[in-house]
Amino acid sequence: MKIIVDTTEAISALAAKRYVRLLRSRPNAVLGFATGSTPLGLYAELVRLCDAGEISFRDAMSFNLDEYVGLDGSHEQSYRWFMDHYLFEKIDIDRARTHVPSGLDTDSATAEAYDQAIISTGGIDLQLLGIGNNGHIGFNEPGTPFGSRTHMVELTDSTRQANRRFFKSLDEVPTHAVTMGIRTVMNARSIILMALGTAKADIIRKTVQGEVTEEVPASILQLHPSVEVYLDYQAASLL
Ligand code: PGA
Repeated sequence: MKIIVDTTEAISALAAKRYVRLLRSRPNAVLGFATGSTPLGLYAELVRLCDAGEISFRDAMSFNLDEYVGLDGSHEQSYRWFMDHYLFEKIDIDRARTHVPSGLDTDSATAEAYDQAIISTGGIDLQLLGIGNNGHIGFNEPGTPFGSRTHMVELTDSTRQANRRFFKSLDEVPTHAVTMGIRTVMNARSIILMALGTAKADIIRKTVQGEVTEEVPASILQLHPSVEVYLDYQAASLL
């Protein structure tokens, strides 16, 4: 694992440079995107670089990690809406080549088809990940088998509480989600894990320096050959 530490302001720009390098050498790269507060600075920087003509997503394709069950893409808390709003509508990517798991078709055949669609492109070149306070990547909560592929999950109370801030009440936070599995994520050729803020410091320490265990889903990344971990000083403070 390569660990990159900088200020909260600088770290998103550093991560964005990774996309500039990738898309210059491989314009048709397959990108794995993530939602949440953490990538917002990175996405804003990618929009700026695209406006400035320094990066183009014209020939790229994308697959998102996860989606809430029960929300369709027009719902403002759906991850499809999030991606359209913060990134896809503001860069030159062909929206038809962007993929987010369906929150409405949640049967196992649809989940399997999502993995197959990724495989048929030749696989994800660069997968972006945030991390939950409990170590989840995507919505793979503690205890998820490392061999899992795209599947439906029940969200833990701590995840629903953490995401409650985006909804009017806890009752409105979906109880289930569809997420790429851990195996799906580990199949990416390269991975970027981003974490910001003191609240992530403890789980980052466990992820990077702790035991590799299904109780800390992100700890599996220690076994991936090409992972860069982008941290601000606060998230890195216990390393
Ligand atoms: P956050 O979420 O970026 O909003 O902290 C990360 C995650 O839960 O994966």
